[in-house]
Amino acid sequence: MNKRVYLQTYGCQMNERDSEEVLGMLTAQGYELAEHPEEADVILLNTCSVRAHAEERAFGKMGELSVLKRQNPDVILGIIGCMAKLQRETIFKRLPQVDLFAGPAELYDLPYLLAEIQEKRQFRGGGGGAGGEGNGSRVIAVERTFRPLDKKPAGDYRKPGVTAFVTIMEGCDKACTYCIVPKTRGQEISRPAQDILDEISQLANAGYREVTLLGQNVNSYGKRFPDGSGYRGPLGRLRLLEENPGALLDFPQLLRMIDASTRQTWGQSPFGNSSLRIRFTTSHPFDATPRLFEAMRDCSSVCEWLHLPVQSGSNRILRAMRRGYTREAYLEKIERLRRLIPDISLSTDIIVGFPGETEEDFRQTVSLMRAVEYDSAFVFKYSPRPGTEAAAREDDVPREVKEERNQVLLALQDEISLKRHRRLEGSTLDVLIEEPGKRPGQLFGRTRGNHGVILEGSAGWIGETVSVRIATATAHTLFGERCNGFSH
Ligand code: 5AD
Ligand code: SF4
Repeated sequence: MNKRVYLQTYGCQMNERDSEEVLGMLTAQGYELAEHPEEADVILLNTCSVRAHAEERAFGKMGELSVLKRQNPDVILGIIGCMAKLQRETIFKRLPQVDLFAGPAELYDLPYLLAEIQEKRQFRGGGGGAGGEGNGSRVIAVERTFRPLDKKPAGDYRKPGVTAFVTIMEGCDKACTYCIVPKTRGQEISRPAQDILDEISQLANAGYREVTLLGQNVNSYGKRFPDGSGYRGPLGRLRLLEENPGALLDFPQLLRMIDASTRQTWGQSPFGNSSLRIRFTTSHPFDATPRLFEAMRDCSSVCEWLHLPVQSGSNRILRAMRRGYTREAYLEKIERLRRLIPDISLSTDIIVGFPGETEEDFRQTVSLMRAVEYDSAFVFKYSPRPGTEAAAREDDVPREVKEERNQVLLALQDEISLKRHRRLEGSTLDVLIEEPGKRPGQLFGRTRGNHGVILEGSAGWIGETVSVRIATATAHTLFGERCNGFSH
């Protein structure tokens, strides 16, 4: 019987996509997917370290799994992703039975690492032992500085569906003082453009209708490729722009290449909109330039949506976070973007309770949110991450104050989202139908601006872009009905 693998994912969309790649590599090696950990020969947790809460959830799961592992020592238990890199020592203590640690940069080695454990066990004659400190077949791979993005082993796995993720770059070279990601995911590295184009065209042929390009900071795509080429940094990019713009492969250029190739694949529909939608996330405001906004305007397949995490509206806090922009510079970018794409939909991430955040700093964040009027926002309470610069500062905003600021921003965003959504009432929008809705007879889809829409309809519409007249709106959802005839 084939070996079976169970994989649970925590954290961001990058992690979700990494998990698909891992399952793809393992199924290509003959593994089958197990629905429950009890049925698996290999159990993997793909973990997240971005906030303490994400780590606590994984630690809870590890506790459950340790019982399983004691009952069946032959199982291979692996911790992969960000916590493998960051929390190895703590995990050793809490769960000495773990057989495998692989950091984000080592995920492509997983088939080999699993084979290594199996070999060690065969050599030692028997299973993984009862665990305990003497897990002699343990394998640890966490030292690489970046993932060899051009060397993925064969195999991929995606749930059949309408939308798909495509990784375009890995890692992060920024140094935001609160953030653990540069430590866990390592240095930035970009995937060769042709690999990205090939993957997108395969997805389109397989029936996917929307692709989200993923990276910790997609806007620095092209800085460094696995073969050593790349523009290297903002100065290198500027120099190329002045001297030989045709030779610059950066994110706006990649968008244009993807747009051109999707239109080649699909041709133009009679209404001039191509059938594959492109989104991307996430964008660091420092690297989001007018050149990006122009590419977004020019590329018909690229959706009118930008996730542009601001983190704070106070210059003092932005400086302490080392974000590399001021409130004014951020607002100016938004203004420029809106001039080019007036109906752009915007979302953001905000951290409340960063060390030293005063009431006045917080008011600045409130006023920035009112000024921008995001369509949606994620608000996070600051969580000190060991090893970051900010963690050396006292976490001095009391928990109740963080909670209160969180609530204030969520309520404010609801008010703004409702206002933005209400503006859409009565309009007719293209909605890509993604899946059945929660109630029978309902469907769920998204507008190009990333607004969720619920409508009545038949399951046969899933995967179609339909024209929907928006009837009512709440802060989180639009409700509408399909117009007769074609979209547009
Ligand atoms: N505490 C709270 N939120 C954080 N984020 C990143 N690091 C932290 C932290 N230490 C948030 C940021 C980022 C999002 C993915 O998570 O807002 O944009
Ligand atoms: Fe979590 Fe960040 Fe790692 Fe994603 S990259 S899994 S958000 S720590």
